[in-house]
Amino acid sequence: MAHFNGRFIDRIVVLTGAGISAESGIPTFRDAAGLWEQHDPMDIATPGAFRRDPALVYRFYNARRANLAGVAPNSAHLALARLQQEFAGEVFLVTQNVDDLHERGGSRQVCHMHGQLGAMLCNSCQSTMQAPEAFDALSACPACGGVGSLRPDVVWFGEIPYFMDEIALQLGNCDLFIAIGTSGLVYPAAGFVQRARQRGATTVEVNIEPSEVTGLFDYQRQGPATVAVTALVAELLGQ
Ligand code: OAD
Repeated sequence: MAHFNGRFIDRIVVLTGAGISAESGIPTFRDAAGLWEQHDPMDIATPGAFRRDPALVYRFYNARRANLAGVAPNSAHLALARLQQEFAGEVFLVTQNVDDLHERGGSRQVCHMHGQLGAMLCNSCQSTMQAPEAFDALSACPACGGVGSLRPDVVWFGEIPYFMDEIALQLGNCDLFIAIGTSGLVYPAAGFVQRARQRGATTVEVNIEPSEVTGLFDYQRQGPATVAVTALVAELLGQ
């Protein structure tokens, strides 16, 4: 348990977005060199796009998965893992990121609301399994043997994010909500701050610049995640 700006804190919910992985070398979506500057998300990240041009969608996610091998978690991922291990209360980590840098940074509980690059889903038998580095329409499902039924296990626009019931429960119970490196443009995640406020939680935004929903937060910690998250975690751990 801790005090934050004079308030007693027992339960923390942390939401992360692409900004936390930016300094590890994974491009964000909406910054100047971001992924959605190079591709229209409607051509890549919707069920309709996958039906229209599956080869393009497989290529995009295979390339992003391959890119993961060359990057490493940064000090912000490590700091959050330390918070989860050392904080006397509870810390629930929910990420919009499909990379595995929280896990590689030492986090044992990570709720991937937008799925994971490292997983694939069979549209035929509905199994979810670990993905090889690359797969496409010619790959057979290891579970049912069906060919052409595998897709990346990521949540696309128009699909419902994973674990929404669990996330709602956690937001309805937290004393402190921290959003890190997320633009506040994509719902439902952009609405989590409001849910936490309704519950009476203190809210903190960590971002290199103000997000779309910055005005809804009680406190802003502006700066690169590696610096700002590390400082915030040290403060919460009383170090
Ligand atoms: P965005 O690319 O929309 O936003 C990244 C945020 O990180 C911005 O607010 C930046 O200011 C901030 N940022 C960049 N570098 C940073 C740094 N070093 N330290 C701190 N903050 C930094 O990414 P998300 O908000 O994660 O969904 O995007 C949300 C969802 O939109 C993604 O999960 C994805 C995307 O379309 C799907 O694909 C369904």
